[in-house]
Amino acid sequence: MSFPEGFLWGAATAAYQIEGAATEDGRGPSIWDTFSHTPGNVYRGDTGDIACDHYHRLEEDLDLMADLGIKAYRFSVAWPRIQPEGMGPANPKGLDFYRRLVAGLRERSIEPMLTLYHWDLPQTLQDRYGGWTSRETSERFAEYASLVYEALSGSVPYWITLNEPWVSAWMGYGLGRHAPGRKSTAEALAATHHLLLGHALALEAMRSSGGEGRRIGITLNLSPVRAASQHPADLEAARRVDGNANRLYLDPLFPGSYPEDLLDFYRERGIEPPPVREGDLDKISAPVDFLGVNYYMRHTVRASGGGAGPAAGTRFGYLGAETVLPEGAGTTAMGWPVEPGGLTELLVRIKEEYTEVPIFVTENGCAVHDYVDPEGEVNDRERISFLDSHLRAAHAAIERGVDLRGYMVWSLLDNFEWAEGYSKRFGIVYVDYGTQRRIPKDSASWYAEVIRRGGLEG
Ligand code: FCB
Repeated sequence: MSFPEGFLWGAATAAYQIEGAATEDGRGPSIWDTFSHTPGNVYRGDTGDIACDHYHRLEEDLDLMADLGIKAYRFSVAWPRIQPEGMGPANPKGLDFYRRLVAGLRERSIEPMLTLYHWDLPQTLQDRYGGWTSRETSERFAEYASLVYEALSGSVPYWITLNEPWVSAWMGYGLGRHAPGRKSTAEALAATHHLLLGHALALEAMRSSGGEGRRIGITLNLSPVRAASQHPADLEAARRVDGNANRLYLDPLFPGSYPEDLLDFYRERGIEPPPVREGDLDKISAPVDFLGVNYYMRHTVRASGGGAGPAAGTRFGYLGAETVLPEGAGTTAMGWPVEPGGLTELLVRIKEEYTEVPIFVTENGCAVHDYVDPEGEVNDRERISFLDSHLRAAHAAIERGVDLRGYMVWSLLDNFEWAEGYSKRFGIVYVDYGTQRRIPKDSASWYAEVIRRGGLEG
C-alpha cells in the first residue's frame, strides 16, 4: 500500500508542550503559563515550565528526528518568545532559537512546517484586550506573523497560521477547560471570529511580503458527526454539533459564510452572533494554499440527558448534546473512540463539499498508558495498530481522489497534554521526565520503517 511520490511523512509538536525554558531569553508569560499555574486547572498542577526541556536539548531532538528518518517536522513558534507582550519589535533571542531549529532541520533534510499559533497567547493581550474576544488581537497576530515570516520565510516552505481555532475558542473561552479559562458562549463565538480574522489578516500580510513558493494554510480539528439514533432529537443534536465543530470553521473559510442554522440556535437563546464587519468574510475566505486537518475521532451524538448508557463526553453541553461511545469501538487512554473510518469520511467530505486544495493531516495519534518494561523498552502495540489503521484510512481517501500530501503523527515526544498535564502520553518517543531521557517506543521503529518503505505492507 504505497503513498504518492513525495508524500510528506512527519511528526508534530507544539511550543508550550515541549520547550520548557518558560522565562528564558526574554520570553514573556502566555495565557497557558497563567492558566497552568492557577491551582485546579491542570491535572496534578503540572505546568509547561520545563516540559521536555526541548529548548536546551534542541540538537539531541534534531538527531532523534534524523534517526527516525522523518521527512517533515511540524512545530510551533511561541508568540511570547518573539513578542513578550504581544506587540512591538521582535526579541532577537526568541527568533534565534527558531533560526537554529530551522537550520538544524534543513541540515538533516527535514522540511520545516511552522505553526504560528498553537494556543500560547501573550498574557498582556488577554489582560489588555480580552484576548481573542477582541479584534485588536487579530491585528496584533498579523503583525507577529509578519515578524516571523520576515525572519524565516526564506527557509520554511510550509506555514500554518492557527492550530485548531475550535479548541482555542470553545475549550478556552466557552468551556473554560483551557486557557484563558473563560466560560461564555458569546465570548467563544467572538473568539471564533477574531481567530479566523487573525488568520485572514496574517495570510494577507505574509502574502504581501512575498516569499515565492511558500505555502500558507490553516489547521482545523474536524470530526465527522453521527447521530446515536434516528430519533429526531438526536438527529437535530448531531446537526448542531456538526455545525459547531465543523461548519463553523469550514463555512467561513471556504464558501465564506457562517452556518445560519447554528447562529439561529444561539440567537433563540439570546446569544449574540459573531461580531462580523463588512468585508471580514471576504478576507477569511481568501484562498489558502493547503488545509491542515487534525483528526482524532468521530463524534456519535445524542440529545443531552436521553437514551441508554453513559455519556462519553460533555464538550457540547451548550448545544444540548452529548457524545456517546459507539458500540464496538475501542477507546484510547483519553477515552476517545478509535474510528479510523472517520478519517476517510472526513477527507472525502472536505473534497466533495468544500475545497480541493491540497490537504495535510497535520495531527493524528493516540494516548496510550505507556511504560518502560524491564528490558528498557516501550512496547506500544495499541499505538502501532492505531497509526496503521489511520494510515490505511488516509490511503483509502487518496484512492477516492483526495489530494492528500502528507501525514504528521502526533506526537514526536510525550509532552504536556494541556489540562491533562503529563498524565497522557502521545509520543512515538517516550520521555522520562525525571531525567529527560528519550526512549524511542516500538511505534517509532515501526513508523521509521513505514517511511523507509513509503507505505504499508499488504
Ligand atoms: C490536539 C492539539 C495537540 C494535542 C493533541 C492531542 O487538539 O492540537 O496540541 O494536544 O490534540
